[in-house]
Amino acid sequence: MTKEEALKRIESLRKELREANYKYYVLAQPDMSDFEFDRKLEELQKLEEAYPEFDDPNSPTRRVGGEPTKEFKTVRHKYPMLSLEKSYNIDDLKDWINRITKLVTEKFTFCVELKYDGVSLSNQYIDKKLVQSLTRGDGVFGDDVTNNARTIKSLPLVLQNNDVPQEVFARGEAMISRQNFEKINKEQAQKGLETYANARNLAAGTLKLLDPKIVAGRNLDFIAYFMLGDNLPVDNQYDALKKLEEWGFFVPHDYIKATNLDEIMDFILDWGVKRFDFPYDTDGIVVKVNEFDIQKKLGNTAKAPRWAMAYKFPAERKLTRLISVDFQVGRTGKVTPVANLEPVQLAGTIVKRATLHNEDNMKKLDLHEGDFVYVEKAGEIIPQVVGVEKSKRKTDAKPIRFIDHCPVCNTPLIKQGADYFCVNTTTCEPQIKAQIEHFVSRKAMDIDGLGPETIDLLYKEGLIHNIADLYDLKTEDLKDLERLGEKSAQNIINGIEKSKQKPFEKVLYALGIRHVGETAAKIIARHFQNIDALIKAKPEEITTIKGIGEKIAESIKKYFTNPENIELINRLKQAGLQFEINKENKKIIDKLHGKKFVISGTFQNFSRNELKENIEKNGGKLVSSVSKNIDYLLAGEKPGPSKISKAQSLGIPIISEQEYLKMTK
Ligand code: IVH
Repeated sequence: MTKEEALKRIESLRKELREANYKYYVLAQPDMSDFEFDRKLEELQKLEEAYPEFDDPNSPTRRVGGEPTKEFKTVRHKYPMLSLEKSYNIDDLKDWINRITKLVTEKFTFCVELKYDGVSLSNQYIDKKLVQSLTRGDGVFGDDVTNNARTIKSLPLVLQNNDVPQEVFARGEAMISRQNFEKINKEQAQKGLETYANARNLAAGTLKLLDPKIVAGRNLDFIAYFMLGDNLPVDNQYDALKKLEEWGFFVPHDYIKATNLDEIMDFILDWGVKRFDFPYDTDGIVVKVNEFDIQKKLGNTAKAPRWAMAYKFPAERKLTRLISVDFQVGRTGKVTPVANLEPVQLAGTIVKRATLHNEDNMKKLDLHEGDFVYVEKAGEIIPQVVGVEKSKRKTDAKPIRFIDHCPVCNTPLIKQGADYFCVNTTTCEPQIKAQIEHFVSRKAMDIDGLGPETIDLLYKEGLIHNIADLYDLKTEDLKDLERLGEKSAQNIINGIEKSKQKPFEKVLYALGIRHVGETAAKIIARHFQNIDALIKAKPEEITTIKGIGEKIAESIKKYFTNPENIELINRLKQAGLQFEINKENKKIIDKLHGKKFVISGTFQNFSRNELKENIEKNGGKLVSSVSKNIDYLLAGEKPGPSKISKAQSLGIPIISEQEYLKMTK
């Protein structure tokens, strides 16, 4: 085969496979057998290996996912990704229509669509080829997840048709279908792993995985609903949806043109029921002004277009019987009342337990034994009891009261704010187990192989009673335990050993001091540089640190006043954990030591928040206005002219983003 022949064959295979993929995943009308598809894909793979010069990132062979990514680049959206204004009833919708009707003189129509509950993605095509896929991020900057997006089989890598503009952005939602979601959760359960809460979160998590091969296996879909760019071949949203489909995108056919509120309402009422049979989660409908020229006249607010409005479906609510109330003790000793319920199907999962939040909420509900209660999902994830059907209550039903002693260790509970706490932090079993779970978690010491069940097992066997005991464990202690073989035992021990290298800030976070989250731990670790200085510090000194308030300071003091905690820290020190900031971090901090920055304009590599964090991470400080007290004006694209001239007149150095990057490298 000559080189030309090879190229010809490669191109023809790519075309055939692309078309077969489109027919299978977008049209759901396959016309090539799996066998033939695989055979052709294999042939293409072999040719691409033999002729690397004909490599193409949009080849069908790339659908399976390439090399793992190290981290996602943050990229500025050419057109910001706005969100949608939301309404929850007809009156809100009516108000919106009246409002915009007054703003323009021309007549206009609406395009009414489903609101897909997925993760928004913006895909850039140049010369019909996919070049970049960005997540929404903060709307201005998104993460470059192109390699993951390429594995989404219903997302075209090359557009078909001859009217595609030179550059076009196709936006829509990355979704996991309900059926696929159930399948993935079933597999998780079979492996003894935790199941995912909902399809949207799973889709979001999947897009952020670093290994595109795993992403490919999750079978995401992409539903397109919006195009952006110059010289678009259409002038309204309805035709844009049709056009997106022509170009090869998956666009469900469930959208209509409407001329008035009645037609919009019919669609809403219709879909309020039909949505439960739709293969993907939807959380409302979106009403858009159809004509692009009117959209342009209406324009955008800072956050959302004035020409579109979301109508959210009401949260699903079910009535079920209360079986009993448990009082759960969390990591910090907080006691949360949880209702055990007769199982009900609610928004995609079977609900057996629902939170009652706290005593005040229980009082408000006026909960009685055997009550019939209404459950909803807060944020569509956590089931909660939202009301009681009092007409179904038996006359002799007894009210349910909050407890006054710890249900596990019987220590009297103490009320703080709206919550009750068990203060026995050192021997109360659920607290200890949760502390250990927190200590080994990914964001803390990141010790693999120690899931809740293994921790439970080690606790029951008397091998661990606190986090310091982990460092006394030996492979021999573990390998004969039920369910743990020599290999997993060795893995755990290796993980524990490796954790000794975790930096001080992680260790501080891992201790699980109340209110000391990841960020606070980082700030505090960098300020005090070692644990002894922190132990000695008075709360007044701790609160002088920016971003650390009294609540945190008091909590830290309380933690270190407990001799058992000091004893724990001494044992961890002996085990070799990092209790002071390491030299490398010290060096980083010294890079911009105490230097004051003002920033202006927009930046290629950072959002404003990220830049602020980066300056602080390197030991510098961000201030808001230019004065003689600052060290640098860091100017991005389009900096404020008044800041520039003021800095120039004061002789303050003005540095670019590139120079800043060099300073901190
Ligand atoms: S249009 C400038 N259409 O809902 C307006 N958005 O809650 C762009 N969404 O960020 C959005 N279905 O991710 C539009 N049919 C649809 C949608 C939709 C879901 C998402 C989108 C948006 C979010 C706002």
